[in-house]
Amino acid sequence: MSRVLEFQDIRKSFDQGAHYLSASGYVDQGEVLLIRGPSGAGKSTLLKILARLIRPDQGMIYWEGQPYRAVDPALWRRKIHYVPQKAVMFEGTVLSNLQTPFRLSSMSDELRFDQEAALKYMELLGLHPDMLEQQAGTLSGGESARVALIRALLIQPQVLLLDEPTASLDDERRDLLLQVLVQWLKEDDKRAILMVSHNAEDIKSLPFYRVLEVSMHKGAE
Ligand SMILES: Nc1ncnc2c1ncn2[C@@H]1O[C@H](COP(=O)(O)OP(=O)(O)OP(=O)(O)O)[C@@H](O)[C@H]1O
Ligand SMILES: [Mg+2]
Repeated sequence: MSRVLEFQDIRKSFDQGAHYLSASGYVDQGEVLLIRGPSGAGKSTLLKILARLIRPDQGMIYWEGQPYRAVDPALWRRKIHYVPQKAVMFEGTVLSNLQTPFRLSSMSDELRFDQEAALKYMELLGLHPDMLEQQAGTLSGGESARVALIRALLIQPQVLLLDEPTASLDDERRDLLLQVLVQWLKEDDKRAILMVSHNAEDIKSLPFYRVLEVSMHKGAE
């Protein structure tokens, strides 16, 4: 099995060094790495570091064996893609929100927005097609979370970094979302998922996963 993402001795301190996060781990092709730990343990921070949205104080990250500094950050963020804990929706319709990443110059040459694929994911996730015309600001928390996931899937990442993707969903929608993720992994054997989740029900639905426990340490060292 081939290693997709590996991180070694990642460290990030908070409160002028009073607390620090320290983590090492990896995810192989086809795997789900579940990231667990109490509130404030640094789970979201770790995912943001792996997406290169924030810098660690130290540590190495490798994507298919390449050190992160050797890879263009915009390409990295698209391929190793972070979906935030609280969905970010821009002003305008759901359709416009789904198209947003494709308006970036770094994307427009490579990939085109695929409305059929968007509608297929909406159906799989229990969202009505009319929602494309709805103002994104009026969506419920659970609807926004699913639209944000679809927006992420459409840009064809290789690794999804999902920050509590099921937190705002009822049991039925949670199962739909997990089915979509498992199917997404199967469609291409290079893919992998890192997912923060507190929900034991999530784990039961996943056919294969490992767990990484994260905790905040006291003191500078
Ligand atoms: N930009 C920042 N500046 C200062 N402190 C920060 C910053 N970002 C995160 N922290 C602190 O780092 C710690 C870890 O935060 P993080 O959001 O990663 O936790 P978490 O494990 O995701 O928690 P939760 O389960 O509540 O989402 C918290 O104590 C938080 O207050
Ligand atoms: Mg968090």
